[in-house]
Amino acid sequence: MNDSNKHSSEHQFLNVQSLVYMVILVIAFVLFLIIQIFNTTDEIIPWPKGDGPSESQTIAVVDQIFTKESTELWQPLPLESIKGSALESQIMYGKDLIAHTSKYLGPNGSVVKISNGLNCQNCHLDAGTKIFGNNYGSVASTFPKFRERSGTSESIYKRVNDCLERSLNGSPLDTASAEMQAIKAYFIFLGKNVEKGTKVKGSGFQDLAFLDTEANPANGKQIYLQKCASCHQASGEGVLANSKDEYTYPPLWGKNSYNDAAGLYRLSNFAKYVKTNMPLGATYQAPQLSDQEAWDLAAFVNSQPRPHKNTPADWPDISKKPIDHPYGPYSDSFTEHQHKYGPFKPIAEARKAKK
Ligand code: HEC
Ligand code: HEC
Repeated sequence: MNDSNKHSSEHQFLNVQSLVYMVILVIAFVLFLIIQIFNTTDEIIPWPKGDGPSESQTIAVVDQIFTKESTELWQPLPLESIKGSALESQIMYGKDLIAHTSKYLGPNGSVVKISNGLNCQNCHLDAGTKIFGNNYGSVASTFPKFRERSGTSESIYKRVNDCLERSLNGSPLDTASAEMQAIKAYFIFLGKNVEKGTKVKGSGFQDLAFLDTEANPANGKQIYLQKCASCHQASGEGVLANSKDEYTYPPLWGKNSYNDAAGLYRLSNFAKYVKTNMPLGATYQAPQLSDQEAWDLAAFVNSQPRPHKNTPADWPDISKKPIDHPYGPYSDSFTEHQHKYGPFKPIAEARKAKK
């Protein structure tokens, strides 16, 4: 091989190499464009600006934490992972809206006065991060999703407004508002380590076995007076903080509590919530109530007076109503009383047999 030949083959080789690089770059760019076009979940997230790590750097940190995580239970991401990012202030505002909702949206709210004085955090503990404390670990990964209650596919916005209108007995937030966008940004942050379509273990509530008998409100009242009234008061009306803009101990019934269309008004949700979270300090690892006590408390508290909400559009397919939905009509012949207080096993079994 003479020198000039060698030179030209090297030249050719270089050309092939740069062509390969070019093709890779073009593919990467096209992929990037496709991802941007179909990226509907993150539309609220602004382009990174200023100093500090960029959004992609933040996500990289977040992903790294996820791949290192090996336990099955959801682990909420540390808020430090967004320090300095362009999203930080929006996500932190979202978190504050969850923890201190009433200061912004309550009866004396600084932004709008559209809710009853409860904070989202009262029921979604530790700003929605507590394991089996009704946390938000699976919100970003599972919404939008079809829900039988409305018979439609629901967005995160609809789900947030559902709790505002029912659990906070109020009115909906404008979906374009800074508040709704911040809450959504916070949920997306919390769900960053959960694969799309997955309900991560530890989110929502822990399952609770049905009793063989119906739940007993009279027994629930006795337990309430022993274990709950010191904070929530014998009247059930809770205790306002000195600042008067949120509760130290939220109300469990009465005019300032959740209404009768709320999730907690179902006995199973209430019993599951208190079993792993109340009295304050209880956890799923260290519950302080027996199953019977949790169900009886639910029966007592949910038989006390509270605001009523008309929801004629709920459960368009009545055969899909939860077995403990306390109002008829039903697609089976069990009484309204049994659907409210149990025993629930026969209803669950009858439904299974029908399938
Ligand atoms: C009085 C208690 C209560 C309060 C206060 C409350 N929620 Fe909820 N929330 C629930 C219950 C109970 C559920 C689960 C209901 C079910 O699955 O039937 C729920 C579910 C949700 C979900 C769906 C979670 C999932 O994984 O599917 C979102 C999102 C949500 N709430 C947002 C909010 C927001 C935002 C606020 C404050 C504006 C709020 N909630 C206040 C009781 C409450
Ligand atoms: C030491 C005080 C304390 C005791 C005792 C206590 N709670 Fe609570 N409870 C709280 C606080 C505080 C919150 C709100 C938590 C938050 O915002 O982080 C809460 C929230 C709740 C909620 C959701 C919010 C609402 O207003 O509906 C329910 C339901 C509840 N408690 C039921 C009970 C029951 C039932 C008992 C008795 C087994 C009980 N609690 C005992 C302090 C207490």
